[in-house]
Amino acid sequence: MTEQLRPDGTLRHLLTLEGLSRDMIERLLDRAQGFVRPLGARPPVSQSLTGRTVANLFTEPSTRTRVSFELAAKRLGADVVNLEVQLSSRVKGESMLDTVYTLQAMHVDVMVIRDAEAGVPASVAANVAPHVSVLSAGEAHVSHPTQGLLDALTVRQHKKSLEGLSIAIVGDIRHSRVARSDYYAFRTLGCVDLRIVAPPALMPAAEEFAGCSRHTSLKTGLKDADVVMMLRIQRERMGHANLPDADRYFAKYGLTPERLAGARPGAIVMHPQPMNRGIEISSDVADGPQSVIRDQVRNGVAVRMAVLEAVLAAGTGA
Ligand code: NCD
Repeated sequence: MTEQLRPDGTLRHLLTLEGLSRDMIERLLDRAQGFVRPLGARPPVSQSLTGRTVANLFTEPSTRTRVSFELAAKRLGADVVNLEVQLSSRVKGESMLDTVYTLQAMHVDVMVIRDAEAGVPASVAANVAPHVSVLSAGEAHVSHPTQGLLDALTVRQHKKSLEGLSIAIVGDIRHSRVARSDYYAFRTLGCVDLRIVAPPALMPAAEEFAGCSRHTSLKTGLKDADVVMMLRIQRERMGHANLPDADRYFAKYGLTPERLAGARPGAIVMHPQPMNRGIEISSDVADGPQSVIRDQVRNGVAVRMAVLEAVLAAGTGA
């Protein structure tokens, strides 16, 4: 695995939450919490990253992650470049590494990378100059570390500590990078009762998600849960033959108010979005009183500010 920490223990790259210490994760969440403001208030701004440059290199679609990395960087005073990959020389066959070397020559300090192919962020991290950091913004089905952090922050805001909580992650676990990063975040922060709930075809391999209980029944998976994390069916990562029928899926696994009533009273409902309303979640639940889905989005900017500051400030000895 690519080393994510510098020799002095500070964060250089963020490619996965696997192996990050509880202390490191908690420090990032504490810093992120300091960047959270109520809706309607002005977001925090600082000049801590003035003169630094962040490039967003996204070869898969994104709304929240890309915009939040951009806003996070700008609110800390950094310059931001959004490479429109379909308009760049990548379409002429230029490799990701040549693209990255080009940006590096222009004094880009942080490469934020989303890619459908596993291993791309790590291979870039292994080849950039020592002062450059790589942040994964979603790697195939493998990892989405800033999403794991923002989900953990959202749980912490509503339930204080993750210790003692029952958390159910429901849906297309097999293809979900969000589920994998949530797994490392939630376990590292002390969640013992972590459940994965999915139809057999969307369960991950047996050796993954060690220590989680597995449920093919939504009812047993949700029983007395404090947190219900719903996931999108990742159609783009499935062959057509494996696509579940939307109506049948909703009938068995869709989260409705009636089904949510089987969780603990006051349970929170989360979803990384984009949502398929009427497939994995009903609008009543998505827009209902137990939903914290918009808090997740707000927290995404705060977490990305904390991560950018961590990798850039440490690099200058600040
Ligand atoms: C997720 C992603 O791209 O992994 N979205 C996000 O970043 N919030 C989840 C998804 O696409 O379903």
